[in-house]
Amino acid sequence: MRGGYFMSIIFNEKNQTITLNTKNSTYQMKINEHKFLVHTYYGNRISQMDMAYLHIDHDRACSGQPDEVFPGRIVSFNTFPQEFTSCGIGDFRINSIALRNEDGSNGADFRYVSHEIKDGKYSIPNLPAVYDNGGEAQTLIVTIQDPITNLKVELYYGVFEENDVICRSARIINEGKGMVQLQKASSMSLDLEYGNWDMIHFHGRHALERQVEREPLSHSIKTVGSTRGTSSHQQNPFVIICDHKANEDYGNCYGFMFVYSGGFKAEAEVDQMNSTRFVMGIQDEGFTWDLNEGEVFETPEVIMAYSNCGLTNLSHQYHHIIRHNVCRGKYKTSRRPILINNWEATYFDFDDRKLVSIAKEAKDLGVELLVLDDGWFGVRDSDNSGLGDWFVNENKIKCGLSNLVKEINEIGLKFGIWIEPEMVNEDSELYKKHPDWAYKMPGRVATRTRNQYVLDMSREDVREYLYTMISKILRENNIEYVKWDMNRSLSDLYSGILPASRQGEVAHRYVLGLYDLMDKLTSEFPHVLFEGCSGGGARFDAGILYYSPQIWCSDDTDPIHRLSIQYGTSFGYPVCTMGAHVSASPNHQTGRSTPIHTRATVAMSGTFGYELDPEQLSQRDKEEIRDQIVQFKKYYHVIQDGKYYRLTDIHENWYESWQIVSADQSESVFNLVVTNVMPNQPCINIKLKGLDPEGIYEIDQKTMPEWPGKFGIFGAEAIDRYCGEKEVFTGSALMNGGYTFPWIMGDYPTIQIHFQKIK
Ligand code: DGJ
Repeated sequence: MRGGYFMSIIFNEKNQTITLNTKNSTYQMKINEHKFLVHTYYGNRISQMDMAYLHIDHDRACSGQPDEVFPGRIVSFNTFPQEFTSCGIGDFRINSIALRNEDGSNGADFRYVSHEIKDGKYSIPNLPAVYDNGGEAQTLIVTIQDPITNLKVELYYGVFEENDVICRSARIINEGKGMVQLQKASSMSLDLEYGNWDMIHFHGRHALERQVEREPLSHSIKTVGSTRGTSSHQQNPFVIICDHKANEDYGNCYGFMFVYSGGFKAEAEVDQMNSTRFVMGIQDEGFTWDLNEGEVFETPEVIMAYSNCGLTNLSHQYHHIIRHNVCRGKYKTSRRPILINNWEATYFDFDDRKLVSIAKEAKDLGVELLVLDDGWFGVRDSDNSGLGDWFVNENKIKCGLSNLVKEINEIGLKFGIWIEPEMVNEDSELYKKHPDWAYKMPGRVATRTRNQYVLDMSREDVREYLYTMISKILRENNIEYVKWDMNRSLSDLYSGILPASRQGEVAHRYVLGLYDLMDKLTSEFPHVLFEGCSGGGARFDAGILYYSPQIWCSDDTDPIHRLSIQYGTSFGYPVCTMGAHVSASPNHQTGRSTPIHTRATVAMSGTFGYELDPEQLSQRDKEEIRDQIVQFKKYYHVIQDGKYYRLTDIHENWYESWQIVSADQSESVFNLVVTNVMPNQPCINIKLKGLDPEGIYEIDQKTMPEWPGKFGIFGAEAIDRYCGEKEVFTGSALMNGGYTFPWIMGDYPTIQIHFQKIK
């Protein structure tokens, strides 16, 4: 350590290697005799060594040579591993960059120029990025440049030694003469020269986001991405590459998380020599960026992590960095209020009196914040009109917004509000005044989604209008929570303020505009808890988490589907980021009925709240909700701060279980949901994880369903025993022998157990 900072980045003059060390990983590059920046190693932490010995050059047919090795034939762009690839000059694998120079040529041949090591973590102007809380990170900046065009790339590496992650981004600078048109500008590339790998990615659709899919990489290019202008329901900008045999507790795993909320592309190619190249960055389909002389293009960053012991550890690395180094603000780590949202309770059909009754009932149950969802503004009685008109609808909120907020506050609840700033309905005052503010291609009627158009967020006047309207609402009312929604993918991207030649910049400029507005509002209202949302979880990404510490996970509130949605989300994102609510039964998206106990168990492994009409609840459900809220508050510190363990593979079992262990291993909350109850059921045995093997744990509280009628002759005795006295176990027994459940009956029954270490 030096002056509070680790010596995570080491330059070895003799070998010309630059080595990046984190607690458990080493990443290395080397400046070779031709000034190529060669990638030599990323994997388990190793002691000082020039890892270039791993690569052996050979003369490979149809793999060309740079001029300076002539007449030699073994060094080829097409076979050596590079930190950031060249383009157009004979590396036929996927490239990190594509461009058109002023003279029409498409070549760039990057050679090492210099490097610099700094304490702290770099930030990226106008883009979200992982930050250093003080003494946690070092930054490496390596400059490479094309000697002919002078196009320069600064490669940034932010090394968090203790947190075990490395962030990467690139800064592309036109130091040449004339304009360079960027056609692809990735944030990173990585060559894993040896090994056979699987890719795990998280696909989905509206109301079923982040489903886990895993497949072996083959001699092809596997691409995961979004062309929707958002990170999307369909694919998440988080990808894992791991050994074929890697599982939760075993194997080499590499994670790549893009800190960006727009279209993205992650590509993995296994080449002719079985080497794997991974490239991640902004979606290049339709992308161009005119880089004039002296101009700079900043790429968003990728958070890389390596685990030598499986996927759980990899998830922990991401959970920690997201919670502590991406999320910000008052609610980064402090307890967030337990909320009730009126969306599934009323949809558009409410008035101020209904909201007040919901608030009164909710207060009585222990809820702390009322969220007024869609429909409170403009003429918004359905989702066909009103977006853009950010003034209160006095037909519904007859007493006015300020009075309503006061009344809710007097009841004892905080007040939260829904907005969807980036959109406009044709049927709105805003659109009548400024039809040109919405994206539309010349001569075409723009495609509508949910009967709404997308505002051109790259325009300052658009952002200024949104800022004025929204900040006024937040300034004039005691609003302590904002749900920032966004309900369509981007199409018809054509900006009236850009020339024809620059229309390829619109998608990225949209995201920059969005971040600018988010930055302004979150900085001006730091006491407000912002929750991201995009038709559920279409923008569940680390970029949004930089501005709002939680994101509505999915519009599917069915707890049984939520199991797989939250399971998939948990690979990259911590529990404290996942918006999750208890909703009505039968569920509005699936019609499935589930016990309120099960709905709460699932929502508790998220930010926890309610989204139902409390006036419709039975007395029993109300009592249960009161208990749930007490319980959630009691276990909050474990659930939100602890380490999360996926105990079962959702695809393999008729039950799902997961567990959260406090950082000091003194407590653990265990959860089990039986998704397919069976007659004559085998006993479920689950091995717990993360406990102190030497510790003695007591079951301090067990919440479980009521077994229907003690189910006659088959299991009554076992259940009596199971429901009996406090049991005591050693941590090693629970982790090796496991914990066994009796035959569990009922509709989607759930058991939640709190283990307390007593010795
Ligand atoms: C989509 C969100 O995901 C829902 O929770 C709700 O806010 C609706 N939009 C409102 O239009």
